[in-house]
Parts: sequence; structure tokens; C-alpha cells
Amino acid sequence: MTGGGSSLPAVQALLRVLAAGRDVAELGTAFGDGAAALAVTARSVVTVESDPERAAVARERLAGFANVEALEGDAYELLRGRGPFGFVFADSGGYDWERILDLLEPGGLLVKDDLTPGRPVDGDPVREFLLRDPRLAAAEIVTAPGAAAIVAVRRS
Ligand SMILES: C[S@@+](CC[C@H](N)C(=O)[O-])C[C@H]1O[C@@H](n2cnc3c(N)ncnc32)[C@H](O)[C@@H]1O
Repeated sequence: MTGGGSSLPAVQALLRVLAAGRDVAELGTAFGDGAAALAVTARSVVTVESDPERAAVARERLAGFANVEALEGDAYELLRGRGPFGFVFADSGGYDWERILDLLEPGGLLVKDDLTPGRPVDGDPVREFLLRDPRLAAAEIVTAPGAAAIVAVRRS
């Protein structure tokens, strides 16, 4: 089983707010907790998990949500050609930001969590891309003590 557990409750609350009325893609389902939060307000959610054991747990967890499609495999492979999405929750690690940007519609939102607050932008590839790429406008926010996320929008 690969690393990385479920998103924090505060992040799940953020996901519920930002997903409202949108078509959402989540890279990295884990056990389905983030997808369940997204599903409360999203129009649709497609979520992909590469670990078979986690994907099986998530399928069961998410079976009651009519607006969720829970897929097993590599998120980049399975989401290629889909979308564009109004919200992408990039939560799998090993990020290919160009491919993630391709999934986003203009005005679409992107969230990356699991950051340590207060770190410099220079030398941090995630912050350098998300906070400085001219195709995005982004803000870093503290989500819980010792935890931060970046929320970005794809500029029109
Ligand atoms: C931090 S956890 C996801 C937590 C989940 N989004 C939540 O909110 O509860 C990261 C997950 O991404 C999965 N993962 C890693 N690389 C992946 C890939 N290329 N495609 C799909 N899932 C991947 C890992 O197996 C792991 O379960």
C-alpha cells in the first residue's frame, strides 16, 4: 500500500465549499474521505486511486453517492481526455502540473494540500509552479495548525 492517508477535516470542509455545483476530478482517492466531502456539493466527482486495496475500500465507501465515479488505476492515464473540470483536487503526489492544468476549465479551481506552512517559495517546485505560473492566480492558506494548502484558479 502506498503512503498518504485521508485529508484533514478542515480540508474536507474547504473541499465541500469549493466543489459546489462543479464537475470535480480528484487525483488520489485513498479511502474515499475527500471524495465523500466533494460529493456533498459537487455536480459530479470522478476520483482515481492507484492502490488496489485502497480503491476497493473507497468504492464501498462511495457506493451510495450517485454523483461519484470511483476508478482504480493511474489518475493521469484515466483522466486523460476527460473534462475540462471546474475543480481538481490534486492529492496523489508525483505531480505533473502541466497535465493537471490541462484538466482545468478557465475559471476552474485547483487545490493542493499537505503543505507545511511558512516555507519559502524558492526551491519548492510545488509552490514555485502554483504560486508563480502566470496561467494561475493562487493563495496559500493555513488549514490547521502545521498544515497549509494552496488554492488556485485557472485564469480565463
Ligand atoms: C493523500 S492520499 C489521498 C487522500 C484523499 N484525496 C482524501 O482526501 O482523503 C494519496 C493517494 O494517492 C494515491 N496515488 C498516488 N499516485 C497515484 C496516481 N498516479 N494515480 C492515482 N492515485 C495515486 C496513493 O495511493 C494514495 O492513496
